[in-house]
Amino acid sequence: MRHLMSPLDFSTEELDRLFDLASDIEKNPDKYSKVCEGKKLATCFYEPSTRTRLSFESAMLSLGGDVLGFSDAACSSASKGESVSDTIRIISCYADICAMRHPKEGAPMVAASKSGIPVINAGDGGHQHPTQTLTDLLTIRSLKGRLNNFTIGLCGDLKFGRTVHSLINALMRYEGISFIFISPEELRIPDYIIDILNEKNISYKEVISLDDVMPELDLLYMTRVQRERFFNEEDYVRLKDFYILTREKMSKAKDDMLVLHPLPRVNEISVEVDDDPRAAYFKQVQYGVYVRMALIITLLESAKN
Ligand code: CP
Repeated sequence: MRHLMSPLDFSTEELDRLFDLASDIEKNPDKYSKVCEGKKLATCFYEPSTRTRLSFESAMLSLGGDVLGFSDAACSSASKGESVSDTIRIISCYADICAMRHPKEGAPMVAASKSGIPVINAGDGGHQHPTQTLTDLLTIRSLKGRLNNFTIGLCGDLKFGRTVHSLINALMRYEGISFIFISPEELRIPDYIIDILNEKNISYKEVISLDDVMPELDLLYMTRVQRERFFNEEDYVRLKDFYILTREKMSKAKDDMLVLHPLPRVNEISVEVDDDPRAAYFKQVQYGVYVRMALIITLLESAKN
């Protein structure tokens, strides 16, 4: 039985198969409308979510399955002190697969070690968000036609943004990727990621100015400043509007550059950019449903063997 804790849990060949399946689901949704009949997905969310939880639920319902779960730890027995290990043993009696989001890094991994069903990490603290990465990769592959040979700028909160950490991990395995990390000094990419890039001899640079690098980018991955991970409000307020992508900034970008964002957006992309054909962040949300459908099918298949 397989779980998904990190995007590296799948080889690039397995990711290709997953994305092929997601693309087939996009083209032929009716073919898949009953493949999970009789199966249940549990969504155990100890942290707030709109996209991840609802896209998982939408994915399972579109596959003909059912969903159950909680969206607030306060409404679960975690509020009485139940451990994640005990909770997943219980959920294993109620459901066939579980998507779990937790504020503590590693909590879904602990759950997976005690689980009788596949567990999907739906975001653990500031660590990883592998299904957002699958969404990002499928979006890039579908809209750019490839997952290699491009320059990607990652902009905003690179310290706490788990989607950024997962995406860098995943993209490192493809040829010809060059990273540009755009952040204020306080929100720099963690040193452990820089160490891996140096070890693997992967091209990267760190800059503060978004304007300066706009013309170089094939992809721009914007992120919000993660208020919930700050230790004091003053620092958050000082940094929250450090980057705001505007129409004026977009005028410096290539004609075929794509703007991605895991969402939710706060202020970092002006709404005036939404109508730009290069703004791909709402299309990205739809790809998130297809890739989660493909993931549920793949992991349930693995649980049969
Ligand atoms: N992208 C993302 O994880 O969004 P939610 O927090 O709404 O799930």
